[in-house]
Amino acid sequence: MFKDVGQITQALSQQQYISTDEISTVMFLAEKLEKPILTEGPAGVGKTELAKAWAKAAGRPLIRLQCYEGLDESKALYEWEYAKQMLYTQLLRDKLSEILAKTGSLTEAADRLGQEENVFFSERFLLARPLLQAITAPEPVVLLIDEIDRADAEFEAFLLEILSDFQVSVPELGTIKARHMPVVILTSNNTRELSEALKRRCLYLFIDYPSHDSELRIVQMRVPQLSAKLAQQAVEVVQSLRQMDLKKSPSVSETIDWAKALVMLNADHLDKRTLETTLTVLLKHESDVQKAKRTLLQGGGGTGGHPLNRRPNDDTPRRRGGWN
Ligand SMILES: Nc1ncnc2c1ncn2[C@@H]1O[C@H](COP(=O)(O)OP(=O)(O)OP(=O)(O)O)[C@@H](O)[C@H]1O
Ligand SMILES: [Mg+2]
Repeated sequence: MFKDVGQITQALSQQQYISTDEISTVMFLAEKLEKPILTEGPAGVGKTELAKAWAKAAGRPLIRLQCYEGLDESKALYEWEYAKQMLYTQLLRDKLSEILAKTGSLTEAADRLGQEENVFFSERFLLARPLLQAITAPEPVVLLIDEIDRADAEFEAFLLEILSDFQVSVPELGTIKARHMPVVILTSNNTRELSEALKRRCLYLFIDYPSHDSELRIVQMRVPQLSAKLAQQAVEVVQSLRQMDLKKSPSVSETIDWAKALVMLNADHLDKRTLETTLTVLLKHESDVQKAKRTLLQGGGGTGGHPLNRRPNDDTPRRRGGWN
């Protein structure tokens, strides 16, 4: 579908996703080699967004499996629709009685009922969850298995089977094989180490915080109302914050939120007051906010390694990138 890596970068950009050569190369190879992608990286760097943008760029439906602790096969693969089965047995009560009336003993009745079993364990009563939906989809889909590190190790082992042969066995129905190979994107925030077996089956993609230029492009694309100068200043501040030793560095989604906040506040430049009053859009720990204020506004409190911290020997706040 895509002839080269450049086409992928372009297609993703049309979906408002700023890709890097590395990201586009992995996407290209995943398509060609029909391999799942495991993407890791800090929160809010665009792992989930990549799957969404890829689905749109490739013109495929997105099927999402959100992982959490305790996620099991019945929520990920399929389950029998118990309530519907009950409803049908109620509605078909007369018909069932008619069938069973002709039987003598209890065993005979149970055997006769058993012959009708497949009516209730047919596709009509099968509730397909995301994995089965992806396998049975009539067209190729993008399957996003989001935050796999939140699921238990047992679930990961189960997933391995699915990712190896893209087929599932439903005892009552038999083996169901994928009609089309889905593109699978797994994301992880690295809250626990994933198994080597899973990693072996996937192409690995680490998405880090974007470079200054990429982040500027993201902001300009996502918040076009923000002036070019202010976008530049905002990105510089965010990039500087990421150099600090904070509990939680601002993510790209927080940069975007901040850019939107600046638009809402009609800010035309980034002065001390605006920065002070809006820092909490970027930083969610009071100790981080205090540290950032000390470093950015007074130029103190840092270790000296931070670019904004390397200021002349006077008490005036350091100016950088035009903000004051
Ligand atoms: N490369 C990018 N191009 C365009 N927008 C991006 C990019 N990276 C991140 N974003 C923006 O940042 C937001 C957050 O991204 P996303 O939710 O995909 O992060 P994540 O890595 O999945 O985070 P988490 O680990 O918290 O789930 C997206 O909604 C999107 O607006
Ligand atoms: Mg995500």
